[in-house]
Amino acid sequence: MSGATPDVSVNFDLDAIVAPAAPVEKYIEVFLNERPLPANLREAIRYAVFGPGKRLRPILVVRACEAVGGAPEAAHAPAAAIELIHCFSLVHDDLPAMDDDDLRRGRPTLHRHTNEAMAILAGDAMMGLAFELIATRIKDAKLVGQVSRELAEGTNDMIAGQVYDTLPDFPAHTQPIEKLRTIHRNKTGALIRIACRMGALCGGASDPQLRAITDYAEAIGLMFQVVDDLLDVTQTTEHLGKAANKDADKGKLTYPGLIGIDRTRQEIERLRRESHAALDKLGPRAEPLRTLCDYMAVRSK
Ligand code: IPE
Ligand code: IPE
Ligand code: MG
Ligand code: MG
Ligand code: MG
Repeated sequence: MSGATPDVSVNFDLDAIVAPAAPVEKYIEVFLNERPLPANLREAIRYAVFGPGKRLRPILVVRACEAVGGAPEAAHAPAAAIELIHCFSLVHDDLPAMDDDDLRRGRPTLHRHTNEAMAILAGDAMMGLAFELIATRIKDAKLVGQVSRELAEGTNDMIAGQVYDTLPDFPAHTQPIEKLRTIHRNKTGALIRIACRMGALCGGASDPQLRAITDYAEAIGLMFQVVDDLLDVTQTTEHLGKAANKDADKGKLTYPGLIGIDRTRQEIERLRRESHAALDKLGPRAEPLRTLCDYMAVRSK
């Protein structure tokens, strides 16, 4: 299996990396079962959420909480909330008016599985449910305020990124590389940034710890989308579980399209090192974040 940066030698135990995902999936399941919803809407949400996703954002929430000394359970509500927002972003990203994709997580996209109206509404509902979950499940009022603010800012930045990606309106003279970084930092980096920050806040981070986690998150957030661009041109649809070789056809601004595959790989490695450097300030409890970063750099799907 050829990953994003096969020349980088990294070792990791994938089972250990993904271990926090299962309790968060259970948490979402319980929340969705308890919340009264129209049966067809609940089914659509369940279809979108419980497909075989990597759950990297919830895992980051939990690992960032632990990295600053918090217990994993303290991070479960924001971990569940961010996966709901992420899944909403995927459902809407795939709509005919957006990327117009038929395959997601190895299965028909939600609008293919049901219909467009339901995909739009299920996406809307997942966003509302994410905020409801934070408001009702976190008991500390100050933390509710802090986490809600992160979630709102990250969601709005993600939506701005989708606008830059889909309906760009950059000032004249903006260089293509600046446009690309702005798109990627927003459409993908923003949710990864707030995943880490919400985890750190729930773990009771000090200001220097939160700064270090934010620096780490900004580097991996951009790196994640650079890798996504690379996988679009280096992997097959079958392997990815979503359409490959799609970005160029859709006229998307991407790293391989702009700077070529070799320099894209160098950029991934540069960002990997940058995120490692940010973690140096946090000590041994942040080791899982280092491992996660390495996995995100070399992943092949
Ligand atoms: C896909 O995200 C969308 C991007 C922001 C690139 P993931 O690659 O994390 O998707 P899942 O959750 O594993 O399906
Ligand atoms: C996705 O970017 C960003 C969001 C869903 C917010 P892409 O359009 O590149 O993601 P994929 O490749 O469809 O997963
Ligand atoms: Mg898109
Ligand atoms: Mg897409
Ligand atoms: Mg993509």
